[in-house]
Amino acid sequence: MQQFSNKALWSGRFSSSPAEIMLQFSQSLDYDWLFYKHDLMGSRAHAKMLHSINFFSDEELAKVLNVLDEIEDEITTGTFQPKIALEDVHMNIESRLIEKLGPLGAKIHTGRSRNDQVATDYRLYMKDAIKKLQEKLIIFLETLLNKAQEDINVVIPGFTHLQHAQPVSMGHYWMAYFWKFTRDFKRFSNAYTTTDVNPLGSGALAGSTLPLDREFTRNLLGFAVTSENSLDTVSDRDYLLEFLFAASTFMLNTSRLSEDLIIWCTSEFDFIEPPDAFCTGSSMMPNKKNPDGLELTRGKASGVISGLYDLMTNIKGLPLTYNRDLQEDKRPVFHAIATVDIVLDVLTPLIAGIKAKEDKIKPHLEKGFLLATDIAEYLVIKGVPFRETHEIVGNIVQYCVQQNKNFEDLTLEEWHQYHSTFEADIKEILSPLAAVDRRSTFGGTARSEVARQIEVGKEMVKDMK
Ligand code: ARG
Repeated sequence: MQQFSNKALWSGRFSSSPAEIMLQFSQSLDYDWLFYKHDLMGSRAHAKMLHSINFFSDEELAKVLNVLDEIEDEITTGTFQPKIALEDVHMNIESRLIEKLGPLGAKIHTGRSRNDQVATDYRLYMKDAIKKLQEKLIIFLETLLNKAQEDINVVIPGFTHLQHAQPVSMGHYWMAYFWKFTRDFKRFSNAYTTTDVNPLGSGALAGSTLPLDREFTRNLLGFAVTSENSLDTVSDRDYLLEFLFAASTFMLNTSRLSEDLIIWCTSEFDFIEPPDAFCTGSSMMPNKKNPDGLELTRGKASGVISGLYDLMTNIKGLPLTYNRDLQEDKRPVFHAIATVDIVLDVLTPLIAGIKAKEDKIKPHLEKGFLLATDIAEYLVIKGVPFRETHEIVGNIVQYCVQQNKNFEDLTLEEWHQYHSTFEADIKEILSPLAAVDRRSTFGGTARSEVARQIEVGKEMVKDMK
């Protein structure tokens, strides 16, 4: 059966073989060899299905399954090296089967095309990949819950427009990212559901003249449902777009988080100390401790986001059904999987190791008149309409800026210059921690609310497992 071994499996129609450069150009082995396990799974299921409809005898099926196991051993032990001349993982494995089994091996591709085969391998591969990323994402979410608990009593200035706005609990800050990342988790789950569809049996594009049992392979391969339309199935890559979108929003979130933390590490802010293990120094300046783990996370987001555009652009003008352009669907997705994976490996211990520098944060709470809204609302409670209180407090802030004073420095007489309803109790509301705790609206920054969120978050994480 040597005549099969080095020739392309489609060579019958050709009188000469492809140019060497064309082989290099068209091979996809450097990407899809990763699919070998899933390709073997697909072949096992297909062989069993062919047996169930009497295209393989019991003995033939046993032989095929046995040789597929042998091939798996050869691959894992490195004795089977794929050949570029055979283009991709599918034809390499099939050729090896034929090499080992002769005409019986040549029956495996009955009713099957590489078009439904690659779709099957890819979906099986993605189901595993998504699950693995989600497992790591759960650990990351737990880390954020721990940080929120750890820093619940730390008060930091909250920002809008990167200007001091109102005081917030640092626990509330960590929880903000917790919630963002739970939505990424959900998006990965949605992508998983879209992926969980059996393409096998769609053939090249139109199905098969043979009585293939697609429900049989669906069941064996563990797909939730079978695809409804063969033309759709072999041309569909939107499950990959969905994954790339989920990966992109995840990276956007990690990038924004990194940006905040990079700012917080500056000497101007100095809110946090990042762990040494995730920072690097300068080759020239001995003083430097750079937050490179965070900067690289921010930097790597662009590669994943462009991967989404890469695949969308690829698909945009493709006529139905399969076109070879689709082979290029692997680079952006594999890159996204690897990036999300390593970012989770880095960010999880990095965030866990961050120390809030309360003593350095404190002086910041005195800047920016963080409690201006609290004073306005103090007057609201005493019956002054909000628009009026806004104007009054605005004037007080202006006065303080001119006098180089803080709210705490004002005497009752000075308060009275702006409104007669100010009383001595105005002093009591000027504590940042009390200001945090007053914001006890559902989802607000009060420590009681942060604690509630942490409890809800813990339950949510339990359900993810
Ligand atoms: N290596 C190909 C891919 O990744 C497999 C499908 C090839 N199909 C074809 N009709 N040439 O898309």
